[in-house]
Amino acid sequence: MKQFGVIGYPIEHSLSPILHQEIYNQLNISASYDKKKVTRDQLDHFVNTNKLNGFNVTIPHKKTIIPFLKSLDPSAKTIGAVNCVYKSKGYNTDWIGFLKTISNNDLSINNKSCVIIGAGGVARAIAYGLIRKGIKSISIKNRTIKSKQKLLEWIDSLHPTNNLNENPNIIINCTPLGMWPKINSMPDIEINNQSTLIETVYNPLETKWLKYGKEIGAKTISGLDMFIWQGIASIELWMGEKISEKIELEKVKKVLKSELC
Ligand SMILES: NC(=O)c1ccc[n+]([C@@H]2O[C@H](COP(=O)([O-])OP(=O)(O)OC[C@H]3O[C@@H](n4cnc5c(N)ncnc54)[C@H](OP(=O)(O)O)[C@@H]3O)[C@@H](O)[C@H]2O)c1
Repeated sequence: MKQFGVIGYPIEHSLSPILHQEIYNQLNISASYDKKKVTRDQLDHFVNTNKLNGFNVTIPHKKTIIPFLKSLDPSAKTIGAVNCVYKSKGYNTDWIGFLKTISNNDLSINNKSCVIIGAGGVARAIAYGLIRKGIKSISIKNRTIKSKQKLLEWIDSLHPTNNLNENPNIIINCTPLGMWPKINSMPDIEINNQSTLIETVYNPLETKWLKYGKEIGAKTISGLDMFIWQGIASIELWMGEKISEKIELEKVKKVLKSELC
C-alpha cells in the first residue's frame, strides 16, 4: 500500500486527507494519506528520513522546504514555492490547479486583463499560471505596498508586455478575506455584472464576496475547484498517469462540502 501525506504547522484543519482518500477510493487505489505536523526545526529531518511515496506541503513550509530538496521543477523554481514533493523533487501544483479551474469553468483568459488581490504565495502561483496561459495584463491590489511592488516586478520580469490595464473584469481573491471564522470580511474592490470573481478561499464554500457577486449578476468560481484540482495534479505526478477524466468531480465536491463550515 502506498503512503502519501501533507505536512504543515498547524495541520489539524487540513481537508487534504478527505480529498485524497475520496479520489483513491474512486480510482480503487490502495493508498493512505495522512496529516503530519512538522515544525520548521523538524523540516530538514523529515525531508531526509520520511518513507512516503509523495507528500504535499502547506503553510508555513512552501518556501522554507526548498533548501532541503534535491531538485526543483522549473515552475516551482520560478514561483519560489513548493506544495508537492516526489522523490525529493519539489513541484508547484497550485498554478496547475488554478488553470484547470479556469478551463473546467469554460473561462478564457487569453488576451484578457485581470486583478489579483493579495501578493503572497498563491497570488504568485496564480500569476505564473495566468502568464503561461497568455493573459494580457495583471494588476495587483494588496494591503502592503512593498509586497505588491515586489510581485509586480516579478511579473514584469516574466511578462515584459504587462501593460497595466484600464478595466479588468477577472478578479481573483488571493487573501484570506472571507475565510472561516471571519466570514464577514471581503475584498474591497469594485465589481459589476460583467465581472468574473475567482476565489481561492474554500471554507466557507461560498464566501460573502462570492455571494455578493452572484447577487449583482457576476460570474463566480469557488476556491474549492482550485483546491480539488491542485490535489488531482499532485496525484497525477505521484502516479505518473492522467486521472482527471476518471474522477467523479461532483462526488468529490459533495464529500468535501459536507466537511466545510
Ligand atoms: N484553493 C486552494 O487550493 C488554495 C491553496 C492555497 C491557498 N489558498 C488560499 O489562499 C489564501 C492566501 O494564501 P497564501 O499562501 O498566498 O498566503 P500568504 O502568502 O500569507 O499571503 C496572504 C496575502 O493576503 C493578504 N492579507 C492577509 N490578511 C489580510 C487582510 N486581513 N486584509 C487584506 N489582505 C490580507 C496579505 O497581505 P500583506 O502582504 O499585506 O500581508 C498577502 O498578500 C489563503 O487564505 C488560502 O485560503 C487556497
